[in-house]
Amino acid sequence: MKPINVGLLGIGTVGGGTYTVLKRNAEEITRRAGRPIRIVTVADKNLALARQVTGGEVELTDDAFSVVTDPGIDIVVELIGGYGVAKELVLKAIENGKHVVTANKALLAVHGNEIFAAAQKKGVMVAFEAAVAGGIPIIKALREGLTANRIEWLAGIINGTTNFILSEMRDKGLPFAEVLKEAQALGYAEADPTFDVEGVDAAHKATIMSAIAFGIPMQFDKAYIEGISKLDSVDIGYAEQLGYRIKLLGIARRRENGVELRVHPTLIPEKRLIANVEGAMNAVLVQGDAVGATLYYGKGAGAEPTASAVIADLVDVTRLHTSDPEHRVPHLAFQPDQVRDVPV
Ligand code: HSE
Repeated sequence: MKPINVGLLGIGTVGGGTYTVLKRNAEEITRRAGRPIRIVTVADKNLALARQVTGGEVELTDDAFSVVTDPGIDIVVELIGGYGVAKELVLKAIENGKHVVTANKALLAVHGNEIFAAAQKKGVMVAFEAAVAGGIPIIKALREGLTANRIEWLAGIINGTTNFILSEMRDKGLPFAEVLKEAQALGYAEADPTFDVEGVDAAHKATIMSAIAFGIPMQFDKAYIEGISKLDSVDIGYAEQLGYRIKLLGIARRRENGVELRVHPTLIPEKRLIANVEGAMNAVLVQGDAVGATLYYGKGAGAEPTASAVIADLVDVTRLHTSDPEHRVPHLAFQPDQVRDVPV
């Protein structure tokens, strides 16, 4: 069986997890993908770290552009993050006919329309399960499992760091800053943690989900965003006295004249399942017209949960790679549908 060749950009928390899980579960993953998925090159600025994680088993480079232009690479996995060089690398990979798997929610929420258009033109896939809610297969649920439904709304705890902070503040009475440090040490927080605490990361993820659920382009710039930095333990205590929990929710709702997209702290009655999602866990509620309410729960951040989603995409792309582009299941290509003109 001819392996599919992968170039991995970034061997930080998620990159390291992806390398480890691919190796550990190689037998099952090969069986499911139909052929071996082989990481042939890892690009990272920190070559010492790359050597440590890979044990020197693969080619290492600090020049990510050499990977995205390498004719021997079939799939590029982008785990660098951010809107800067990651965008250039993803577009270059697409231009060079490579499929892309990415966990980069910021990049897709802000530049996704351009990236998906480029991918469609080139006939390659851009897969991004890991970009939303870590290990929870919410993209596949929206796109495949719920495909028969007219989605009415979705609402989720989609930032592990802030949920962890709110839980620890409530349970242990710890101050905000101390819990944030802990979340950073556990590898949950973004490189710039203000993205977590100010709701930006959740808005990136809500933007991506809304695009899939409602068939609209990415419209991050239209989202209402409010984080948790103004919350105090006192607020959490008062909410509790009234029988509520405070959760940072990302909400997308179909309205008559458009789609509402917002992120803000929300009071949820404590008896609701979603009110009891604690720590860095994520949960997404999706209301479809046929299925009714569905709830997805799991680890939304961290090395192996996110790696689980990256590898699921690698398996999907591997399966589809050999098929005629015209006959590929379109679920990995983002195609805004007939409600494209819905204003947010
Ligand atoms: N900073 C993110 C979070 C990581 O805390 O949920 C996963 O996207």
